[in-house]
Amino acid sequence: MSKQFDVLVVGGGPGGYVAAIRAAQLGFKTACCESNPYADPKGEPRLGGTCLNVGCIPSKALLHTSHVFEEAAHGFEAQGISVGTPKIDVAKMIGRKNGIVDQLTGGIKGLFKKNKVTQLNGHGSFVKQVADGWEMKVGEETVVAKQVIVATGSKARHLEGIPVDNKLVCDNVGALDIDAVPKKLAIIGAGVIGLEMGSVWRRLGADVTILEAMPEFLAAADQDIAKEAFKLLTKQGLKINLGVKIGDVKVGKKSVSLAYTDKDGAEQKLDADRLIVSVGRVPNTDGLNAAAVGLKLNERGMIEVDDHCRTNLPGVWAVGDVVRGPMLAHKAMEEAVMVAEVMAGQAGHCNFDTVPWIIYTAPEIAWVGKTEQQLKAEGVAYKAGKIPFAFNGRAMGMAAPEGFVKMLADAKTDRILGVHIIGASASELVAEAVVTMEFGGASEDLARICHGHPTMSEAVHEAALACDKRPLHA
Ligand code: FAD
Ligand code: NAI
Repeated sequence: MSKQFDVLVVGGGPGGYVAAIRAAQLGFKTACCESNPYADPKGEPRLGGTCLNVGCIPSKALLHTSHVFEEAAHGFEAQGISVGTPKIDVAKMIGRKNGIVDQLTGGIKGLFKKNKVTQLNGHGSFVKQVADGWEMKVGEETVVAKQVIVATGSKARHLEGIPVDNKLVCDNVGALDIDAVPKKLAIIGAGVIGLEMGSVWRRLGADVTILEAMPEFLAAADQDIAKEAFKLLTKQGLKINLGVKIGDVKVGKKSVSLAYTDKDGAEQKLDADRLIVSVGRVPNTDGLNAAAVGLKLNERGMIEVDDHCRTNLPGVWAVGDVVRGPMLAHKAMEEAVMVAEVMAGQAGHCNFDTVPWIIYTAPEIAWVGKTEQQLKAEGVAYKAGKIPFAFNGRAMGMAAPEGFVKMLADAKTDRILGVHIIGASASELVAEAVVTMEFGGASEDLARICHGHPTMSEAVHEAALACDKRPLHA
């Protein structure tokens, strides 16, 4: 007899585990299957997906440790603190990171128990449509579910001719487990992973060179922000070469040699003792048996969905990295909640225009809404307010005067269209902009809100005032 559920969620990442919890909270008999190789102490696949196991959480743990290390090495003295030359114990740093992963992935197991979600261990795939839903295979078991939510996420894109062993040549999995500070680290791709992981190992002493195909740096970001980020990150010592074309990559026993053509067309060579390949991610639809049941994918291999994450098959939904839109954990979680609520007959909602982007370099980079170049391309009349953190007392006190807040508002209606921040705590500051935009707020609304003093958030306040050309402290 097959196991019967109202809802089967395939994949236990932020999209999957959140969908399962919310569906169970709404009264559905719910199971979630997961098949990753990151076994927990009981030998079961760990919940949490890419985000908790080999993504957001471990990378932020390493970013924190390396930031504190760099502060101790270069930031303390100016504040009158002498600690001598700091040393890094890489094994301890990785152990701390693994401990956080253990704790958080185990926590999701606890949340499943609390919310009565059944965890199934095994790879999920479609078998066929049946009278009361879908017959699915999970490992060796057969499961019938009235509704299925596919949340199978994504995996690192690799490049032809560059075999990833996650020792010498790493994708995100190996990059988070490097066991000693490389002398020379090469990175292909100056995107989010390249900049975050490049920052980690540079701070710890590696000579880091990033090779990026695009001639523009951080093309998706507001170009004011991208220019400032390029200036600050290269000043810190990251070598970022834009507009390159990767040629032959020779992988030896202990080193890697990369040939590439630089932006001026000259042939160059780069030797490194580690290589990270971070050139984007591809959706995970392997072994789902999608074609056999007619589950439609788009030209990029993502499962095709509508605004409410319905696929072309009845009772089959898909959320997170496996569908269109930014590959971000919070976007996956928003979609997950929306799907569970729509399944329950509620008005599920996901506003894709207010999904924030955050890059956890130092300074941090965060934005929400449209960039200035997008508004120009769309012919939207806008006004801008830009305030440097150098005018902010808290930023000065925190020894973090770098960066700025830039607000873009509609020239006629004053509605905020985009907020772009580069500076310490940008990841937290952007939340205020998200809330204001979610409620259709104007720059005048933010300008009239009392902000605590001294706080970094005063720069957001001043940027709103600057939209009306009346900043008080700039
Ligand atoms: P995933 O997290 O990929 O989870 C999918 C799960 O499904 C996996 O566990 C997989 O094993 C499982 N699965 C796949 N197929 C099957 C199957 N057939 N049967 C059973 N199980 C299956 N995002 C942010 O918002 N902030 C960040 O700071 C951030 N940092 C990142 C850092 C790195 C290094 C990386 C790689 C990513 C980062 N991301 C970040 C992106 C974030 O991790 C993803 O957007 C998020 O994990 C997507 O969630 P998901 O549930 O769609 O997919
Ligand atoms: P990415 O899309 O951010 O960047 C990939 C970069 O590689 C791009 O700049 C691209 O132009 C470049 N590239 C592609 N092919 C190349 C080639 N052949 N040679 C040289 N450069 C090449 O992808 P990344 O960094 O791999 O991260 C994947 C995704 O994971 C991100 O897009 C994001 O969705 C998510 N992520 C989010 C984080 C966050 O929210 N802080 C942190 C890390 C990852």
